[in-house]
Amino acid sequence: MDGVTIVDHPLVQHKLTIMRKTETSTGSFRRLLREISLLLCYEVTRDLKLTTTRIETPMGETDAPTLEGKKLVFASILRAGNGLLEGMLDLVPSARVAHVGLYRDHKTLEAVEYYYKAPDDLSDRLVIAVDPMLATSNSATAAIEKLQESGAKDIRFLCLLAAPEGIAAFRERLPDVPIYTAAIDSHLNEKGYIVPGLGDAGDRMYGTK
Ligand code: URA
Repeated sequence: MDGVTIVDHPLVQHKLTIMRKTETSTGSFRRLLREISLLLCYEVTRDLKLTTTRIETPMGETDAPTLEGKKLVFASILRAGNGLLEGMLDLVPSARVAHVGLYRDHKTLEAVEYYYKAPDDLSDRLVIAVDPMLATSNSATAAIEKLQESGAKDIRFLCLLAAPEGIAAFRERLPDVPIYTAAIDSHLNEKGYIVPGLGDAGDRMYGTK
């Protein structure tokens, strides 16, 4: 699928399968999400530009690779995005963080914004928006459009699971934003949940149901 990268690493796929299981506990779900987000972050940052810097090792001097310096922003789409955010910050502790608070109106399935806070200089940064589930795509597209209105130009979207309907709707509104996901599932049900999916990601990570 154009502009969609499926992270098919065996460790990602194995952990995802355990997360899907109904019997997986809240604690295990949260731990696995943190671990998997680290692996997903590895993939979404794979093509970051490098430069070299002169360093001294105990054996002598060498020109060694370092990140070129375009700073990262991880934009968490609340509340489930925070589950991905934590593992990503383990990997890139210096990244800046934006929060976009959206809830899904259960009747219309439309995203309603209730909170927004982001660094000022979004236009100079690579912004990686995160939300575990790309279902209808209403939340993801609303969050990304808000980040674009605030100046973000270079944006990627990272999720754990995507529905084909969500990808199609996302593509229509945001044709140039690359999507990274661990899997594309079968379909959305009539309530906008991904099938087979893993249920409500927020409820599963916080034990709220
Ligand atoms: N959000 C979730 O948490 N799960 C889904 O299946 C769809 C949207």
